[in-house]
Amino acid sequence: MSVWRVLRWLMVMIVMSDAIMCLPNTRHQVWRVGSRGSNVVQQLLVAGMLDVLNHSGSSRTVRVPPESLTEVKDALQDAGIPYQVLIHDLAAHLQAADEEGRERRSADNSSCTVSSCPAPLNTHYMTFSQMEWYLRDVNTSSPTRITVSSIGKSVEGRNIWLAHILPSQPSDKAVWLEAGLHAREWISPAVALHLIHHMITNTSATSSVDVFIVPMANPDGYVYTWITDRLWRKNRRVNGGARCDGVDLNRNWDSHFGVGASNNPCSEVYQGPSAFSEPETKALRDAMLKLKDNLELVLALHSYGQDLLYPWGWSTGEEAPGKHDLIAIGQVFTQAVKNATGTEYAVKNAAEGYYVASGATDDWAMEALHTKYVYTLELRDQGRQGFLLEPANILACSEEIWQGITQVIKKINA
Ligand code: ARG
Ligand code: ZN
Repeated sequence: MSVWRVLRWLMVMIVMSDAIMCLPNTRHQVWRVGSRGSNVVQQLLVAGMLDVLNHSGSSRTVRVPPESLTEVKDALQDAGIPYQVLIHDLAAHLQAADEEGRERRSADNSSCTVSSCPAPLNTHYMTFSQMEWYLRDVNTSSPTRITVSSIGKSVEGRNIWLAHILPSQPSDKAVWLEAGLHAREWISPAVALHLIHHMITNTSATSSVDVFIVPMANPDGYVYTWITDRLWRKNRRVNGGARCDGVDLNRNWDSHFGVGASNNPCSEVYQGPSAFSEPETKALRDAMLKLKDNLELVLALHSYGQDLLYPWGWSTGEEAPGKHDLIAIGQVFTQAVKNATGTEYAVKNAAEGYYVASGATDDWAMEALHTKYVYTLELRDQGRQGFLLEPANILACSEEIWQGITQVIKKINA
């Protein structure tokens, strides 16, 4: 073998091993932390030591990166909290379970291409480009039903699109729906796109309200989940001087900024350097402020948990104005969902039912805009597939949420 061939072979090996080493989530472990562990887990989350993947009842499922395995173990042992290792190497696990990935590679996506995308896909999750092709298509094909415009650009310069579904009669009532603020929650934008489609094809349900839908509020993060790290949550801000990227866009709103969030850029709940430091939250805020007086319902779509959360999220001590109406209308929603597909959703207070977290869309809409009905909706499922929810759920999940939302709109306008 010539020296050059050996050298070339060496180079290829180095590049390959580098690629393997750089796979996101390599040697990250998934642990189940036993009951009474929620406070320690919250502290470790804020400190940037772990990521919370599931929080049912008092137990937590967490992702622990290799560099903090020892510290997390010590913290749990010191507090006398039991834990169990569920997955030893998350990267290997993700590769094996990468259902969307496999589909993505072999998918027949021919019904949604750059030249024509007449309807959202329901057997596959859509790429950000496909979402844009769909929005462009309906904007040109249904000009009397919908107007799509950009309300701003992301950190990396992608458009944040707002779909305005036009009522058939003049209206002074508006509904706001935000989706995709957290990158890995793929079912959220998928449902939002199907809601848009339902609303432009079935005109009667929303004929007397202006509906505004942002189907993808964090396009950079979403693209990153397709290309690099399926479990990415934040936006793609490069945090100057810090080792870690990204701001949690649902901790960046100016409402009790910094409570139940983190000032550590390595934390999954990093609030950012100041409230509204991010172009994505600024764009949403400005568009919502323009509608301020007309907004009667604000709904932020997230996943997962099958819960409809009402404010406040920043404190367990204070009661949200109109709490009883929030619960009553919430129950209209969950009942309609159940009637549609049998899926059970629960109405909960955000802080008590989940955890204390401020700087989110919901609290800001209630506090700054005084919108009466404000919720964060945690879509399917309850943790079996979690963020990796199979695309086979897209259609039924969209259908149940469509039924829930139309019943709520009917009820609050009755
Ligand atoms: N899963 C959502 C999040 O972590 C829940 C937000 C609920 N609202 C709140 N203000 N805490 O962002
Ligand atoms: Zn979320």
